Amino acid sequence: MNAIPVKGDVAALWQWCLDIARRRRQGLRPVDADLPLSWSRAQGYALQHGWDDEARTLFALFKPLLDRHGDDAAWTIGQLGQSLDGCIATHRGDSCFVNGPEGLVHLHRLRALCDAVIVGASTVCLDNPQLTTRRVPGDNPTRVVLDPSLRVPAGARVFTDGQAPTLLVCDVAHRARAELRLGAAHVVALPRHAALGHRLSLAEVVGALRARGLRLLFVEGGGVTVSAFVQQHCLDRLHLIVAPVVIGAGHPGLQVRRSDAMGDALRPPARTFALGGDVLWDLALSKPPRPVSD
Ligand SMILES: NC(=O)c1ccc[n+]([C@@H]2O[C@H](COP(=O)([O-])OP(=O)(O)OC[C@H]3O[C@@H](n4cnc5c(N)ncnc54)[C@H](OP(=O)(O)O)[C@@H]3O)[C@@H](O)[C@H]2O)c1
Repeated sequence: MNAIPVKGDVAALWQWCLDIARRRRQGLRPVDADLPLSWSRAQGYALQHGWDDEARTLFALFKPLLDRHGDDAAWTIGQLGQSLDGCIATHRGDSCFVNGPEGLVHLHRLRALCDAVIVGASTVCLDNPQLTTRRVPGDNPTRVVLDPSLRVPAGARVFTDGQAPTLLVCDVAHRARAELRLGAAHVVALPRHAALGHRLSLAEVVGALRARGLRLLFVEGGGVTVSAFVQQHCLDRLHLIVAPVVIGAGHPGLQVRRSDAMGDALRPPARTFALGGDVLWDLALSKPPRPVSD
């Protein structure tokens, strides 16, 4: 298993990762081959000589995100920090903290590399999170709250702290009230679908964000939201970070359709990385990226 570092060459490599993210947002070509990171259409990014093992490990972990360069399609990555018994918070909703400090740094790095961070209504109600990159260098992503019934308080930090733009995704039935609260530019109103258990279509959510220029999407939680993305086949990759703790009957993490036989079970290609005392499972839920055009 590889160890994820926090110091040394990693600080320098992280600046390159941010540079790649910025260039991607601006639609610029990947870096040229004479720089410390090279790029080719066939292989995507590669590290040149001279980086230490820790930096190489960090690069290996983030390469699937970095290689989204030049691809116009939306791409989604989720994360869940969970206990050994599959919980992401206690039954009262306390999730501070399931994972160790390295897991929090990783979370903030994912925010910094992505264009938008998506959370469900319950996470905002229970945690009142900021969803910023304050633990690492890097820009804050646009914050997206899935709140079909407008039950998240108007005073939640994501709507009031001004640290980054926030979009509210709600049912079309609540469009007028949502626009009155936040302004039309901050509201995405979509129908709920009976065929999806009267939930929003996450393909429609992803499409609406893509139309606003948000292509690399980070689904931060909680379990209901990440599970819905998996169930609706809208998640390309998932980082499951397992901590050696047992919570007992808390908020569940990943909940997908029941398998009758092991042959029916979801068994995605997986890699593991040590994250302090936790283990990060990097699960590839979709096919590899399409070839990038010049
Ligand atoms: N450990 C971690 O990694 C982590 C990460 C994030 C949060 N958390 C914790 O997780 C807990 C909350 O998680 P949770 O799983 O209970 O809830 P959640 O995923 O935060 O929010 C679920 C709610 O979001 C809305 N939603 C999500 N997907 C939707 C869809 N496709 N269509 C319509 N609405 C959708 C629904 O709101 P309505 O009910 O209004 O329809 C749904 O009930 C908190 O305790 C938080 O601290 C832990």
